[in-house]
Amino acid sequence: MRIIIATIFPNFVRVVKEYGVIAQAVEEGKIEIEIMNLRDFAHDRHRTVDDYPYGGGPGMVMKPEPFFELHDHCKQQFGDLYTILTSPQGITLNNKLAMELSKKKNLLIFCGRYEGIDERVKSLVDLEISIGDYVLSGGELAAMVICDAVSRFVPGVVEDESVKRDSFYNDLLDHPQYTRPVEYRGLRVPEVLLSGNHEMVELWRTAESLKLTALRRPDLFLARQFSVEEKKALIH
Ligand code: ADE
Repeated sequence: MRIIIATIFPNFVRVVKEYGVIAQAVEEGKIEIEIMNLRDFAHDRHRTVDDYPYGGGPGMVMKPEPFFELHDHCKQQFGDLYTILTSPQGITLNNKLAMELSKKKNLLIFCGRYEGIDERVKSLVDLEISIGDYVLSGGELAAMVICDAVSRFVPGVVEDESVKRDSFYNDLLDHPQYTRPVEYRGLRVPEVLLSGNHEMVELWRTAESLKLTALRRPDLFLARQFSVEEKKALIH
């Protein structure tokens, strides 16, 4: 799949594809991430992308032309687009939505500005997405979060097994993890993880996931249909 991020701060956003598993996936051609500068689609020599609001009032509003022309350009170059606008008024991102978005061929993400964006841009947008109930000064961080969360679901970007074990994949929080040394400053790794008994290890992990979910996310715990394995872990 291809993710295109349209922003006025391309250098800020670029880091999303320069580190870790995402960088590796880009290098291996498993995913394409294009960062596009909205200013490249401005019309004047100052590359202006905003203007005063009609009707007056404080702040500036992002002009429609750069968004429309960048959209035209991408459609011509890449074909069908699924277009997202980052906005605190959008629906909140979660794992299920990230997984659905990972099936799109071309995802175009418009980074909004909280101060305002010409309303007509929304006629290009399939979905407005928020990354949480707080206000960011711009959509760039939100676009990077969406890009990262979606990329993880593209086949081959992250090991299948680790995606399945991730918090929320299964509507459960992750179990604790340990590595060497077995004891550090008096803190020991739980004995069961040293036992070599895979069945017991799995049971312990399931029980820990369930406990953590019950404590921190009672909403998820109470809504859960427990599997046989989970019931076994709960009474163990
Ligand atoms: N822009 C400003 N705040 C935002 C948020 N919480 N999510 C997405 N885009 C935003």
